[in-house]
Amino acid sequence: LAAQSSRLFQSFPKDLLQSLAVENITGNFHTWSLSLQNYSRNAKLKRFYKVLSTNNDGKKEFISTMEAHRYPFYAVQWHPEKAPFEWVDKPGMTHSPTAIRVSFYTSSFFISEAMKNRHHFPSLVEEERALIYNFSPVFRGMNSIFIQNYYFD
Ligand SMILES: *[C@@H]1O[C@H](CO)[C@@H](O)[C@H](O)[C@H]1NC(C)=O
Ligand SMILES: *[C@@H]1O[C@H](CO)[C@@H](O)[C@H](O)[C@H]1NC(C)=O
Repeated sequence: LAAQSSRLFQSFPKDLLQSLAVENITGNFHTWSLSLQNYSRNAKLKRFYKVLSTNNDGKKEFISTMEAHRYPFYAVQWHPEKAPFEWVDKPGMTHSPTAIRVSFYTSSFFISEAMKNRHHFPSLVEEERALIYNFSPVFRGMNSIFIQNYYFD
């Protein structure tokens, strides 16, 4: 319910929010977490962030998405970007159509937030120099942590 009235999830289709609620379609690959109880005990944290979702790894419930009440700050304890791009084969790595749509809607939201920022490069030359197209990803093999890496010298 907090998710439905949130900024981050508000433009997600209903069926997708439903899938997020009942299917295991988010990649959670972290060791540390914040419990609802500890969050609630911290008045400053509570005043700053609103909890939008929790996950359960079978042992512990943990906060998986938060957004700031007043600022464009977001925190995810899952990997919205991995479903369409990361093909390392390990438990929790999902590529289902719903997982990929979640990734799409999350990135659309972040892009729309970023576009509120009016910062820009002073010139086309400097902009071109910063583009990712200047760099080639390197295939690291299916057994590596990430199948593709970028190297910036
Ligand atoms: C999702 O994962 C949980 C915890 O591992 C498990 O209990 C549950 O059955 C799974 N749900 C689905 C729909 O696969
Ligand atoms: C809550 O915070 C305490 C103190 O930092 C920590 O020791 C404990 O592991 C946390 N509990 C959970 C369930 O995360």
